[in-house]
Amino acid sequence: MRKLLLHSCLLALLAYSSYGQVNQTALKPELYRPQYHFSPKAHWMNDPNGMVYLKGTYHLFYQYYPDGTTWGPMHWGHATSKDMVRWQEQPIALYPDSLGLIFSGSAVVDVANTSGFGKNGQTPIVAIFTHHNVKLEKEKSDKFQYQSLAYSLDEGKTWTKYAGNPVLPNPGITDFRDPKVRWFEPQKKWVMTLATKDRVTFYSSLDLKNWRKESDFGQDMGAHGGVWECPDLFPLEHNGKKAWVLLVSVNPGGPNGGSATQYFVGDFDGKRFKPYSAKTKWMDYGADNYAGVTFANTGERTILMGWMSNWQYAGVVPTSPWRSATTVPRTLGLSEVNKELYLTSTPVNELSVLNNAAASVKNLAVKGQYDLTAKTKNDSGLFKLDLTTQNTNDFSIVLANEQGNELVIGYDKAEKSYYIDRSHSGKTDFEKGFGKRHTAPRLSTETNLSLTLLVDAASIELFADNGLTVMTDIFFPDKPMTRLFIKSAAGITVTKLTYTKLTSASQAGL
Ligand code: FRU
Repeated sequence: MRKLLLHSCLLALLAYSSYGQVNQTALKPELYRPQYHFSPKAHWMNDPNGMVYLKGTYHLFYQYYPDGTTWGPMHWGHATSKDMVRWQEQPIALYPDSLGLIFSGSAVVDVANTSGFGKNGQTPIVAIFTHHNVKLEKEKSDKFQYQSLAYSLDEGKTWTKYAGNPVLPNPGITDFRDPKVRWFEPQKKWVMTLATKDRVTFYSSLDLKNWRKESDFGQDMGAHGGVWECPDLFPLEHNGKKAWVLLVSVNPGGPNGGSATQYFVGDFDGKRFKPYSAKTKWMDYGADNYAGVTFANTGERTILMGWMSNWQYAGVVPTSPWRSATTVPRTLGLSEVNKELYLTSTPVNELSVLNNAAASVKNLAVKGQYDLTAKTKNDSGLFKLDLTTQNTNDFSIVLANEQGNELVIGYDKAEKSYYIDRSHSGKTDFEKGFGKRHTAPRLSTETNLSLTLLVDAASIELFADNGLTVMTDIFFPDKPMTRLFIKSAAGITVTKLTYTKLTSASQAGL
């Protein structure tokens, strides 16, 4: 036991030798290790937290348990990147303290130093997070979650917790967490969107330290299959008009089981959010995009990353020595269909740094099965596929390997729905609900149907109709999926298909 401990200490020391700068190049090519999604070198992660862009660097903080591969006392892990594709793990940013564990939250660049944390002209990054007090929870108090601050004056390298924590005490709500803060320019104030059990509550502040309640939203709106978590509120432009998007993660109660993220589009006046529609809408219909929120300080761009797993099985997926990853970063936008505004998500352009050899085909008639394997010759199984067809018949795209594993992505014309079927995709028996077929409505009414698929070692992200319907699913094949087929019994014509091999982020050069 002691020997084992010594051994793992030594390994840890080696891995972190250059001030925690663990370059992902140093990673062993583990079978399920994401090659272009962030995953911690070792141990458990869940929600992305405090994502913020500052001086050419994207910061990702995340729920992290550094002593195991299942959920445990939460810290904020930290990783940085110049392009959101090639990440470097950094030392842990926030450790649990006497007020509690460090649950999810956000970070802002306090340009005007409203908080007063900035000294000698330094601009503080301020993190606003939930302290979760285990002792109070055990004593059956309902006030064990409250909001606190920490700040960094050296661009996220080191953090100081605010001596006046907590800044937002708990009024007696058991689930009172995941503050997402943004600057509301029209009223020159900070707005916090907080998950408060079965709704969100908006608070405002001039200095990030004193918070005033503005309003509640959502008790009688949207999906309530479980508790509301990790909200976000941000504006997006559509046809020259500004609309506000409110994201709310819910666990369980997702459209394909377990956890998922819904959204509302409406107006926000600094006090209240008023949705344009009562329809329940999902940001991503796959099983594996949860707790996604947007980066702060990215100007006109609105970029989201989510946690690429699901509370239903996150703790038992067959990966080691780490568990979980983020989704690819996605640019968010709005699109109108039948007078309803929908959120669109598309992979950020920065991902093109991964593009390798590409093969293109035009006007390809597929009746029965078309085998693309010889054309694509890909041992790694990492690729991007862009495909356009007219909405004429059912079809599917099948990823397979010699071991007989299959992952099927398809379109069902009668149902007007997309699907990802991972029931025969490899290892599925670690949890009874994992090996399922997931469906998502096709929202677009266009005849032209376009898909982009992003495949990494153990994940697939489907962006259909320019991001109107999105599905993210993880899967665990026995060997990489090196074979590729397009199938259509009734027959389709693929107007255009481009297959791009993707390289690992660690090989894309920094
Ligand atoms: C969402 C969540 C948050 C919480 C965190 C704890 O996945 O449950 O509500 O802050 O995870 O790790």
